[in-house]
Order: sequence, then structure tokens, then C-alpha cells
Amino acid sequence: MSGNSNTESMSLFSPQLAARFDALVKKYPVKRSALIPMLLYAQDEVGYLSDAVIAEVAARIGITELDVRNVATYYSMLRFKPAGKFNIQVCTNISCMLRGAYDLYERFQEELGIGHKGITKDGVFSLEEVECIGACCWAPAIQVNYDFHDDLSLDLVPSILREYRGRAGAPGGGSSSPGRKAQPEGGAAHA
Ligand code: FES
Repeated sequence: MSGNSNTESMSLFSPQLAARFDALVKKYPVKRSALIPMLLYAQDEVGYLSDAVIAEVAARIGITELDVRNVATYYSMLRFKPAGKFNIQVCTNISCMLRGAYDLYERFQEELGIGHKGITKDGVFSLEEVECIGACCWAPAIQVNYDFHDDLSLDLVPSILREYRGRAGAPGGGSSSPGRKAQPEGGAAHA
């Protein structure tokens, strides 16, 4: 796949996202600068960076698929396999580790019945152990899609999971704190 006319007629993205990408590549003096935002938006819509996503993003920017992969593999928030509707990233880097992150990570594993990179059977959650997510001052911290939850303790784990089950319309869902939001360029989280 190459060239804008092809990507417009054969796009695997929604018309809204395709239009957003058209605007993004014109926004930067160097098209390649749009790569990371495009990958994040694509992941939000498709769920992960499939081969087809990588091919279309490469064509839109005018770089090779290998160029896209070389950049994308550097960022832990970008994934190449499907994840749950809500992807829980538990930071176990130094500040969080000193504040009980491993106990927290273990608690999430117990509650969800999955390990690193696992997905729950109902597809609602996936879980990952990750490096620093930039919330060290409020350790221990986790990120669920684009929501941050910080200053956590073990007893908060069930209510966090209940909140997201509720959002997914899954059994056992309910309402609690949604956490703080972080979004790429004001974009929407994928759930
Ligand atoms: S060490 Fe956990 S957020 Fe920085």
C-alpha cells in the first residue's frame, strides 16, 4: 500500500480517524513527527498495532513498515497483540517498588486470575507489569488505558476493578473513582 489516494480508498480506519490522520500529517513540518500520535489513535480504535495498521500508518507518512516498527517497539504503551478492553499497567519501578508495587501487582493478578500480558476470559481486562509511568511522586501508581490511579493501597484494588467492570457492562461492575486522565493530544481512550 502506498500513496494517499490508496490509503483514503482502502483505509482500515473509521472515516473520522482517517480524516484526523489526514490533518495530522499536514500539521507537522516533517510528516514523521505525526507517527506516535497516529499509532496511539490507531491503537485506541483497533485495539493493537496489527500488521495492517502498521502498513497503513507507514503509507500515510511515507516511511517503511520497518521504520514504524523500529519506533513503535521502543514505547511500552504501544502493543502488537490484542489487549483487554481495559489494559491495566502496574508500575514496579523503583519509587513504586519501594511503596509496595509488587504486592499491588500480585493483588491484581489474584483478583483477575491472569499474569503479565494476560487477558481475562471475558476480555474486559489485560494486565501488564511496566516501568515508570511518570507518577513517581504519587507511588505506587497504575495506568488503566489513559486513566491514572495513584497513591494506591491493596484494599483499593477491588473497587478499581469494579469501576471498570461497570464501564464495560460486565457482571460485578459498579462505580468508584475513575482516576486521572492522560490522553494523546486530547484524544479519546479506546474504551
Ligand atoms: S516509579 Fe512508578 S511511576 Fe515512576
